[in-house]
Amino acid sequence: MSAAGRFISLEGIEGAGKSSLARALEVMLVARGLTVKLTREPGGTPLAERLRALVLERGAERISAEAETLLMFAARAVHVENLIRPALSGGAWVICDRFTDATRAYQGAGRGVDAELIERLAHTVHGNLWPHRTLLLDLPVDTGLTRARRRAGAGDRFEDEDRRFFERVRAGYLALAAAEPARVRLVDAANAPDTVATRAFDAIADLLPGAA
Ligand SMILES: Nc1ncnc2c1ncn2[C@@H]1O[C@H](COP(=O)(O)OP(=O)(O)O)[C@@H](O)[C@H]1O
Ligand SMILES: [Mg+2]
Repeated sequence: MSAAGRFISLEGIEGAGKSSLARALEVMLVARGLTVKLTREPGGTPLAERLRALVLERGAERISAEAETLLMFAARAVHVENLIRPALSGGAWVICDRFTDATRAYQGAGRGVDAELIERLAHTVHGNLWPHRTLLLDLPVDTGLTRARRRAGAGDRFEDEDRRFFERVRAGYLALAAAEPARVRLVDAANAPDTVATRAFDAIADLLPGAA
């Protein structure tokens, strides 16, 4: 296996447990002596985090679905160049809480942005860089939203969307898993956190150094 690191993305609707799983995987990978860089989208670098705040905060002005898509890719461009590519070149495992599949699911399936536009932007912004593995944390929308709303904090612009929006997002994600089964692995996120973490780890174990 080459010295380059491994790129893992975590996907799923609000409350699926992505952020919790990211921390659990970090612990499990560090315990195996690996260097781990935990990051998230939108965001991950100081400038990309500023773009995150702009796109997630509630405000008076409307943000069209296309504007939202462009902001997501602007943040992603900064993140890929300044953090993801350098970390992978340095041999780290990059665990990223959301990546382009989230744009496909939220802006594409959820908001109806043209899929070809999203694919062109993805190609422009990160070329052939895709996660080696994507863990899709799947669970019923109601369960996810209940978890997310119980969580501390004021929420964001996406959490204001209705149930039908998140049903489209979930369906969009499941379609991605069906289309790219080698990369996108489904993890049942309705399970207890320990079970989710164990199954998620199993789904990336073949990427570990020395794995068959
Ligand atoms: N498997 C799980 N079972 C029950 N609650 C969970 C589970 N995973 C996460 N949670 C809780 O649900 C809430 C949302 O989890 P979080 O990791 O923030 O989800 P996400 O990042 O996908 O929105 C948090 O309060 C978290 O502690
Ligand atoms: Mg989260």
